[in-house]
Amino acid sequence: MIILSIETSCDDTAISIIEAKNSKKIDFNNFEVLANLISSQAELHSEYGGVFPALAKREHQKNLIPLLIRSLKKANLLKETKKELDNKKILKIKKGLEKNEVLFQDLKEFLKKYAIPEINKIAVTIGPGLEPCLYTGTNLARALSFYWDIPLLGVNHLEGHIFSSYLAPIEKIEFPAIALIVSGGNTQIIYVKKIGEYKIVGETRDDAAGECFDKTARILGLAYPGGPLIAKKAKECKSNKYDISLPRPMMKEKNYDFSFSGLKTAVLYDRKKRKEIDENYVQEMACEIESSIIDVLTHKTIKAANDFNARSIILGGGVSANKKLIKEIKKNTKLKVFYPPLKFSGDNASMTGLAAIYSPNTKNLNWLKAKPKSNLKINE
Ligand code: KG4
Repeated sequence: MIILSIETSCDDTAISIIEAKNSKKIDFNNFEVLANLISSQAELHSEYGGVFPALAKREHQKNLIPLLIRSLKKANLLKETKKELDNKKILKIKKGLEKNEVLFQDLKEFLKKYAIPEINKIAVTIGPGLEPCLYTGTNLARALSFYWDIPLLGVNHLEGHIFSSYLAPIEKIEFPAIALIVSGGNTQIIYVKKIGEYKIVGETRDDAAGECFDKTARILGLAYPGGPLIAKKAKECKSNKYDISLPRPMMKEKNYDFSFSGLKTAVLYDRKKRKEIDENYVQEMACEIESSIIDVLTHKTIKAANDFNARSIILGGGVSANKKLIKEIKKNTKLKVFYPPLKFSGDNASMTGLAAIYSPNTKNLNWLKAKPKSNLKINE
């Protein structure tokens, strides 16, 4: 079975094509990623210090068809056609894409030029995420499903992140597990009874951890996305000139929830209080920001793993690219810790494809009625 997946929940436009030899048992040897392409908008959003939804939607519209062509080509599935366009179908598609005019024009040209590829299913992220962005990907998936007459599947973005660890040759994940999904839009601790059965046991009450990295990076004059840059500055830090000490929000509380907005405010106040700053300040502050976020994430994840008798810990989401986070979690537990290969830690469509193939929660969608949901829960 070959599955084409589309992911546009935030600021990355991503398309993947996976061939699954066995769709019953998830194992690295049972599938092959034929194409995994991502078009990042990071530079564009850098000016705003975070993702600007209307701009992200515009970029998804522009990026999707060129990325689709490149993905099909990479997977050796792109073939030209001499067949006439089915204008009746095109008219229907036009209606569905009335808010995506640029995408519609590109799609029409694409359908005119290329034959139906040999794929069996189309999967798309239907939430959670930024609504205008989710709609753009979903609308394209619906149009392709209708025009090509290929079944359409809906995937939860957070479940995708849980599946991302399987995109490497790993040992079997033992369940129950505790998953920490931590990105620019989400910070959740999820009890995974088994694949497909989830319970959210903790989550952020305000900003996500990635958002905190991004916003504090901006205060320090660093570009977006801030997480990797804070990590880099923290690694370079050798001084202790400013003696900075930030809080570890909610660390002592008995629940598994988080709060990161106060941390951002603390960084802002500290920065304002200093008239002159130098590179030492940026490095020391970066180090303290990273330590504070990681201390809290590690403490709560390990606590949840112990309290729920987990047999493994699963990490996912953009922040799971942080080497110190992985190291700290591993240092504080005897359990096996699973995390995605670096290129699959952030948003990508291969994780969407895997979840579509292997999760019992994957929804068969009706192309006509399919709609994303920006606040979709993993256990919905
Ligand atoms: O999952 P993702 O690609 O997109 C969504 O937010 O959905 O995550 C992006 C987030 C950004 O906030 C970025 O700053 C953060 O992941 N991030 C990191 C690192 N790499 C990316 N945070 C800390 N350390 C990193 N190495």
